[in-house]
Amino acid sequence: MPAPSWISRIPSPSIALQRAFAVAAVIAQGGIAVTGSIVRVTGSGLGCPTWPQCVDGSLTPVEHPDVAGLHQWVEFTNRTLTGVVGVIAALCVLSAYFHRPRRRRVLVLALTMPIGVVVQAVIGGVVVHLGLVWWSVSVHFLVSMVLTWLAMLLYGAIGEGDEPARPLVPRALRSLELAMVGVLALLLMAGNLVTSAGPHAGDAKTPRLHLPVSNLAQLHADVLFVFLGMLVALGFALRAHDTPTALWRRYWAMIAVVLGQGALGMVQYLTGIPEVLVSIHVFGAGLVVVAMAALWQGSRDRGPAPTLPAEATVNTDDAKDATVAEQTTDTKSDATVAG
Ligand code: HEM
Repeated sequence: MPAPSWISRIPSPSIALQRAFAVAAVIAQGGIAVTGSIVRVTGSGLGCPTWPQCVDGSLTPVEHPDVAGLHQWVEFTNRTLTGVVGVIAALCVLSAYFHRPRRRRVLVLALTMPIGVVVQAVIGGVVVHLGLVWWSVSVHFLVSMVLTWLAMLLYGAIGEGDEPARPLVPRALRSLELAMVGVLALLLMAGNLVTSAGPHAGDAKTPRLHLPVSNLAQLHADVLFVFLGMLVALGFALRAHDTPTALWRRYWAMIAVVLGQGALGMVQYLTGIPEVLVSIHVFGAGLVVVAMAALWQGSRDRGPAPTLPAEATVNTDDAKDATVAEQTTDTKSDATVAG
């Protein structure tokens, strides 16, 4: 069925606009994990004890005999931010859909944003119904990190082409980077375990992980040492090869972020895990994910982003014809979205 004519008149969003939405998505997907940590360290986890309503009978905070007003407002604000993330996700999809040429890989990655928001809204509801049990909060956090990673892939995909990924480093180093992504996931999970046994539960009645914090913090630091070892090895291997300057920049950004986050982790551990440092540490975890995604994407090339002649940048039938030709190429070359 042909699209209504007003749709065909919508101008193609520029790559710069698409990238701006993708940057907003990275900030929103990572940022909501930080605001979630603020809910936890202020003890507002059950500030809204029901979901989707805040308290029985009201979507918004109201005076309640059992729940402090401040806790209701902190939790309610965090829930409202889901709407902001949702709007940004929708903008990513719309700009990918209306861009000419329409690019399948960019559209698929953009679609993961609203899907992620829905999934996180459901998980958030389950977390509340389970009384913030520690493992459910961890799942909620880890999904946010996956969405941050996907938002970074979206950002990268918009500015690059759709050719099959051509490694800019030897294949063994791509494998090393892939292994680093796995170890980073373990590092984040180990951090969640420390939190689950630590002092900031989110609510006084939250079921906790009953293991010694010091042992879990040691495990967390040990996984970091493995990650650091791999990062240093990657650096030496990159030195031995003809590494593009842009990739070096990403490598050094990664070193700076990981060392900063590690130092912050030590300080928060030695100072009794103060609330403010916990939220900064969650922010730092998001930055490490962003830096790793940038390093991963910077290690391969997919050619330049495809463009159409200026007259075909409105969604006219001509542009559609060009798009169909482009999509055929996309489908062939789009072996993987993940790379
Ligand atoms: C690149 C390095 C690091 C990353 C990516 C990282 C990541 C994380 C993550 C994701 C959490 C869980 C946050 C939450 O669930 O709210 C966490 C918690 C924690 N991390 Fe790290 N971490 C790093 C290094 C360190 C180091 C070196 C230490 C020192 C021992 C440390 C100490 C802690 C502590 C004490 C917590 C618990 C905070 C709480 O009770 O809420 N971290 N970390």
